[in-house]
Amino acid sequence: MSALTWNEALAVDQPHIDATHREFVQLLGGVEAALESALEGDTATLGRALDDFITHSEAHFAQEDAWMLRVGFGAGHCHGTEHAQVLELMHEVRRRLQAQGDVQVVRQLVPALAQWFPIHAGSLDAGLAEAMRARGFDPDTGQMLKPPEAD
Ligand SMILES: [Fe+2]
Ligand SMILES: [Fe+2]
Repeated sequence: MSALTWNEALAVDQPHIDATHREFVQLLGGVEAALESALEGDTATLGRALDDFITHSEAHFAQEDAWMLRVGFGAGHCHGTEHAQVLELMHEVRRRLQAQGDVQVVRQLVPALAQWFPIHAGSLDAGLAEAMRARGFDPDTGQMLKPPEAD
């Protein structure tokens, strides 16, 4: 049983964000699966799974940060701060796996993120999706019906 599986309760009803979140869940599952191979001493597979997950998370969080700025959330908003903290944690875990072969920190990271993600998605990401809808912002075209500059 995966620590986190996709379910409709995670949806924020913004197609791009939901697609990205499905990928987040899938790649976290990839890290979890790679923990099995690490039991047999293969930490390279785990490292690659973690790299894929971190690469995804960097783009995922950067995209949301950029949309937040577009719809008028300031740069110091807690949503962006939370992204930065979680990314820092991921990088620290990656460093410890690389430097010390510390599989245990990865084993702790998976359930921690599985617990964090639904809360983050249900509050901060859902708030972003709501703001995008309220401003009539189309991320595909960059068009916005009610830009914050006009407030
Ligand atoms: Fe997100
Ligand atoms: Fe987010």
